Amino acid sequence: MNILNGQNLFDVSGKVVLITGAATGLGEGYAHIFAESGCKVACADIQFEKVCQTAEDICAQGFEAKAFEVDVTRQKSIRKMAAEILQAYGRIDVLVNNAGVEHIEPFTEVSEEHYDFITSVNLKGVFFVAQEIAKIMKKQGGGKIINIGSLGSYIGLAESSVYCTTKGGVIQMSKTMSIELGPDNIQVNCVAPGYFITPMTQPFYDDAEHRAWIESRIPLHNWGTVKDLAGPMLFLASDASNYVTGATIKVDGGWLAS
Ligand SMILES: NC(=O)c1ccc[n+]([C@@H]2O[C@H](COP(=O)([O-])OP(=O)(O)OC[C@H]3O[C@@H](n4cnc5c(N)ncnc54)[C@H](O)[C@@H]3O)[C@@H](O)[C@H]2O)c1
Repeated sequence: MNILNGQNLFDVSGKVVLITGAATGLGEGYAHIFAESGCKVACADIQFEKVCQTAEDICAQGFEAKAFEVDVTRQKSIRKMAAEILQAYGRIDVLVNNAGVEHIEPFTEVSEEHYDFITSVNLKGVFFVAQEIAKIMKKQGGGKIINIGSLGSYIGLAESSVYCTTKGGVIQMSKTMSIELGPDNIQVNCVAPGYFITPMTQPFYDDAEHRAWIESRIPLHNWGTVKDLAGPMLFLASDASNYVTGATIKVDGGWLAS
């Protein structure tokens, strides 16, 4: 029997990968991971100067990336970005729907403005970026969508009521997308990271008490690094996951097992 016929199922080289929120944090890390794996990376963010720096850093290392400006809360901006990527690379094979925001405050003090801000990026943004790119993938005959959840998709986190609401929603919307897009050979999955040090989580890391609380709940003890997300991301972007859709991979050092 010869099942793999010499194929490396995890090979993603040559794929065009769009990453939203690629100016900083985990998105910037994903951009490097996919570029180092031989992909052409479309780095998109609302912080255009910073995302240009991400693309420049990747190109300086001899890999392929271009920067694109997008505000994921505006459909018009999403459409413009998609058209620019198609012009530059001709297709989009993988979407990493990563742009997200958080604002820590007690439930009873959440303002309508903050509620709208977080939901417009984390829910509406993820929804309409996926919708626009799915249309392109349908025409191409397939693709991979990776939406980014969180621990907050599963458990409540104090003073993160809106964030947790949106991240629970990301998993639910991904399930529906996976059902509707399956017949078009588009797999839709989620990655739910635990705690990773980025501009978003730096305040928790810097607060000794909060940090100790977090670390006491991680069986593998340490905070994650973006390299810890590379395996799951490459798996979900590659042929290795062709029969996996509507799933979520928790990358949390074991937190949710307890
Ligand atoms: N860091 C963690 O520990 C952690 C844990 C679980 C989930 N996540 C999720 O991972 C994703 C990335 O988080 P991070 O920690 O790297 O955060 P981050 O704040 O470092 O990066 C978020 C990026 O999204 C961009 N962005 C924000 N609003 C945008 C908009 N309207 N349009 C386009 N881009 C926009 C920002 O400019 C920024 O570059 C988020 O969805 C977050 O919820 C992070």
